[in-house]
Amino acid sequence: MRVALPTSRATEVETPLLAVPVFADEGGRGADFDAVDQAAGGLLGRIADEEGFKAEPGKSLLVHANDGPAQRYLLLGAGKRAEFAPKELRGLAAAACDEANARHLTGCALVAPEGLDAAASVHFATLGAVLASYRYHKYLTRDVEATTCERMLVAVAGADAKALERVAARATRAAEAVNLARDLVNGPPREITPTRLAEVASEIAAAEGLEVRILDESAIAEQGMNLLTAVGSGSDEPPRFIHLTWRPEGADANTPSIALVGKGITFDAGGYNIKPTGSMEDMKMDMAGAAAVLGAMKAVAAFAPKYVVHGIVPTCENLVSGSAYKPGDVFHAKNGKSVEIMNTDAEGRLVLADALTYAAELGVGRIVDLATLTGACMVALGPHTAGLMGNDDGFRDKVAGAAARAGEDVWPLPLTKKLKAMLKSPIADMKNVGERWGGALTAGIFLSEFVGDVTWAHLDIAGPAYTEKPEPSVAKGGTGFGVLTLLELLDGEV
Ligand code: BES
Ligand code: MN
Ligand code: ZN
Repeated sequence: MRVALPTSRATEVETPLLAVPVFADEGGRGADFDAVDQAAGGLLGRIADEEGFKAEPGKSLLVHANDGPAQRYLLLGAGKRAEFAPKELRGLAAAACDEANARHLTGCALVAPEGLDAAASVHFATLGAVLASYRYHKYLTRDVEATTCERMLVAVAGADAKALERVAARATRAAEAVNLARDLVNGPPREITPTRLAEVASEIAAAEGLEVRILDESAIAEQGMNLLTAVGSGSDEPPRFIHLTWRPEGADANTPSIALVGKGITFDAGGYNIKPTGSMEDMKMDMAGAAAVLGAMKAVAAFAPKYVVHGIVPTCENLVSGSAYKPGDVFHAKNGKSVEIMNTDAEGRLVLADALTYAAELGVGRIVDLATLTGACMVALGPHTAGLMGNDDGFRDKVAGAAARAGEDVWPLPLTKKLKAMLKSPIADMKNVGERWGGALTAGIFLSEFVGDVTWAHLDIAGPAYTEKPEPSVAKGGTGFGVLTLLELLDGEV
């Protein structure tokens, strides 16, 4: 999918399908609609009236035309003008592409409403177009509906086309990074193994000029990552530890640095605390944090942030076998603390603990981790919102700000000090689970024990990483949640 800026005005763009946002204001449908309607000889207004078209978000109306530059017009409900932000163009652009694909058209165009920030409009419209073109049909041997819409023009009034082409190119890179994360999450666990994730990381490093370090099972053991070893011990697939590094030109020891850490459980059966039917079917998605980190690292060189960026992924399977770890086992984490395993299904925090220690030992200034960590976070915030925790309110707010700019939904949760008592073990420094209540928070508190004094934020993405209900620009399955937030974060001051 390619997004471009047309050289002609919106009313003159030659396209098989011209999508026009329509506002639901008392005074009329908006200046953009009026201009296009006039070019179409008043046809659109007439049909919109006849059909009783309500310009609410999610509503659309297709109008065929015999003359005028466009062969079809797609009226897209945009709600109230005063409430409309460029962010909304992501969904509208996706709806335009979906309609074009459904009708086997090769291209479409979208009018960006007047009076909005032009760069932001192009950014979100591009995201919508590239994300809407995503399909996962690698394993389909029939009924493959190829996408036909390969080009979308975004008509923006009176703007610097050169600069906007660059905005579109960047947004395309970002959306492709999200689509990479989706592919990794959607891939069956037989294919997306720890070994495969390590290969993907090496491919990213080669293509983007990053440093790469892959630790195999013996190197992991040598590093003292006994929690990662323990979780992976029930599987025939060996664990891997992935470390990618981006360095801006001229970086030295004083260049600020950040580590992105992603949970990479390529299948979570729960271990001996095995998951029941109904809870295990989607657990190939338990590497969505890793996918978000790899996606962000795929785009990092193109975005060229001024930070040294480390992408870190501890990855293994959590299975049952004669060699699997057991409830009651005690292991020493990489940072020396002993952990009593009280539930083998609380494995994400274990592999992350060793990865967070590794990141802290690199001497980074900031750490963000992303993990499909707890069902409790979904109980607290619902299926679309990530829980945001951390040890520094200022940095937590920076992550929240990045998510807001990215259009991803996150909400802060407290790491209530009193809950730490729940992690007391009679025989070890701590155990890996608390009591029933506050499960997302005790998981966060557990992680906080492994970051030393590094400024750290934690995103529990168990809900938004995967969806059963598709929306325009978000297909069923892996969503790629987190990639855009990370790229926004790297783009700003942390
Ligand atoms: N991977 C799961 C969390 C999860 C659940 C992600 C549903 C996505 C959807 C995690 O490893 C897990 O099993 N967590 C347990 C923790 C409990 C044992 C303390 C949970 O949430 O039940
Ligand atoms: Mn689990
Ligand atoms: Zn898990």
